[in-house]
Amino acid sequence: MVLGAGVVLVVLGVGFLALRWEGQRRPRPMAVWMESVFLDNPLRRALFPPSLITRAWTPPPGSRVGELGAGTGMVTALLARAVGPTGQVWAVDRQPGAVARARRRVAGWPGCQVAVADARQLPWPDAQLDAVVSVAMLGEVPTRDRRSVLAECRRVLKPGGRLVLGEYGPDPHYLTPGALAYLVSDAGFQVAHQHRGWWQHALVAVAAGSKGPCEDGPEGPNPASKRPNFVDGISMGR
Ligand SMILES: C[S@@+](CC[C@H](N)C(=O)[O-])C[C@H]1O[C@@H](n2cnc3c(N)ncnc32)[C@H](O)[C@@H]1O
Repeated sequence: MVLGAGVVLVVLGVGFLALRWEGQRRPRPMAVWMESVFLDNPLRRALFPPSLITRAWTPPPGSRVGELGAGTGMVTALLARAVGPTGQVWAVDRQPGAVARARRRVAGWPGCQVAVADARQLPWPDAQLDAVVSVAMLGEVPTRDRRSVLAECRRVLKPGGRLVLGEYGPDPHYLTPGALAYLVSDAGFQVAHQHRGWWQHALVAVAAGSKGPCEDGPEGPNPASKRPNFVDGISMGR
């Protein structure tokens, strides 16, 4: 009996380490069916609640928030509730299957729109958002592209806007608190605080002097700033 339990634990441990190794070696979006099974379930909600984000920073009612990598929309729904009927949540995910699920979840919230888009090229206008939130997504972006995602966050944030990033320990693409702080600082944000829970953490950062680094950075003008103000045909302006 004890031996059996030991064998099961070892197999689970080895499986977890193999998934983590592969996830770190080759970052890529989690399949939608895996999100539904492993993320959108009561155990995840109990052990790794999406409220990790709102504990680190709660958007004030009426604010305009963007979300990257919405998945099945659990964090999106929380944000929609927090900003209330006078606020707006614009969420994106690159997988249409995830977007369909998130849209069903937030169907009752008129101020909440979910679209298929890539976080490396956000379909939103410059300097419109009070905050950009993302949970367990940045680690799924190939290492070389993470700077582009953060540059896009700076571009769409209003001056002084917040960047709020969360990570869950069991995620194969998990980023440590140190790695996350390094990435955002390197992208021109100032870390305001880091909230740590059991095997999960969130970081709140502010766009320092935000003029939009991608507009006049070493790589020249960002073509994204010229992108039209639409997502899936829905106007994102107010
Ligand atoms: C692990 S899931 C987390 C979902 C959700 N944030 C949550 O906590 O339940 C990460 C999501 O990020 C999305 N994603 C990964 N890379 C992306 C990118 N470059 N642009 C937009 N979404 C992306 C994936 O499709 C996936 O739905």
